[in-house]
Amino acid sequence: MSGNDDFMHGLGANERALLEKIPILPFRKIAAGMVRAKMRVQFTGWLQYLIPVFPILILALLALVSNLLNIFILGTIFSTLGLLLGIIALVDLVTVKFKLRPPESLPQRNDNLDLFDLMRARHSCRSFQTRKLTEDHRAELMQSVSKHLAEPKIGESPIRFEYISAPLTVWPVVNATEFLVAIAPKEYNRLAVIDVGRSLQKVVMDATRMGLGTCWIGPGADHASIKQNLGEGFNPEKDHIICILAVGYESKFAPLFIRLFNRQISTSRLPLSELFFTDSTFTTPLDIDSPPFNKFGRTYEICQWAPSSYNGQTTRCTAVTDENGALKSFDFYAATAFQYYAPVALGIWAANWEMGTATLGIEGHFTLRSDEEKESLPRYDLSWVKYP
Ligand SMILES: Cc1cc2nc3c(=O)[nH]c(=O)nc-3n(C[C@H](O)[C@H](O)[C@H](O)COP(=O)(O)O)c2cc1C
Repeated sequence: MSGNDDFMHGLGANERALLEKIPILPFRKIAAGMVRAKMRVQFTGWLQYLIPVFPILILALLALVSNLLNIFILGTIFSTLGLLLGIIALVDLVTVKFKLRPPESLPQRNDNLDLFDLMRARHSCRSFQTRKLTEDHRAELMQSVSKHLAEPKIGESPIRFEYISAPLTVWPVVNATEFLVAIAPKEYNRLAVIDVGRSLQKVVMDATRMGLGTCWIGPGADHASIKQNLGEGFNPEKDHIICILAVGYESKFAPLFIRLFNRQISTSRLPLSELFFTDSTFTTPLDIDSPPFNKFGRTYEICQWAPSSYNGQTTRCTAVTDENGALKSFDFYAATAFQYYAPVALGIWAANWEMGTATLGIEGHFTLRSDEEKESLPRYDLSWVKYP
């Protein structure tokens, strides 16, 4: 960040990247001010409910203008739409913000699903029931945390997941009161960030099998409130919060804004031909239906449907073969320079890849190319090599 960009201090990487695209400085400053204002309101927990106010005002204005111009049919349409939106916003406020709603039942477990269907069943949960996890569920969740943290890591830096039971301010998720906070060393270490994604995704899959709702939260997390709740569990000299994971029971009551957000942001993915390649310049799509690649079956699909910050889908994979066409490795790359959310997403892919291949009975392990090789492969992060 240059001296001229001081006004962007404290904004997230995503926001800064967007603002940097605005070429004219005064406009960039105004936009930064608007982003800051949005951040202030979003962390009060009211923005989800205030957003419908803007279209309601616009519809009211349009109705007024239509009536003034004697176009009464249009006036009636606009005012009816405004009224409907107003009623929905009011119901959301009462049922979600003020939590005046009938109690909801505990979800069913997903033990009947195979790993691939389980991964497709996972989606980000952005509206939670008000009840806390049962003791049994919490114990099972914490067992999963201990198990996956104890497994060998790709990097050597320690990572940990702290459990918090508190209504942290998060965006745009509502009514989440239980969280896992992913912490890595303060000094940046990319492999530690990848490890966070890899280990926490395995916890996410265990939680999904238990029937729990989860939502990864990175840019939407208010670090000040997390640190306050961690108290002595957070050492500002040594620790860095990478992201958090909201965990709980999904609620069928969700504000209109979240329902639209889920539909718009979360339900699409890039085709496999834009994710898997045969070359490190990502030009030739991998033919996943031909040998030897076809034996990896739905593993490609579960990487495609992996979660990523704002569904940015920043991970790419190339299959490396020898001169005879025999598979040497699958190499994983980050398509963007983001320091945190891209390696987290790559770690999530790594977890899905190894869970998928293990389910298919294909054994392999993660490894890193030599520093010399890495120099010619910008954005390379990790390789998966099949045991012979
Ligand atoms: C590292 C990371 C950070 C994320 N941050 C947020 C967030 O701040 N707020 C949010 O609502 N969702 C967040 N998400 C969830 C993504 O928006 C979501 O995974 C993506 O839209 C795909 O949708 P799906 O999880 O339902 O498949 C995050 C996901 C990841 C992996």
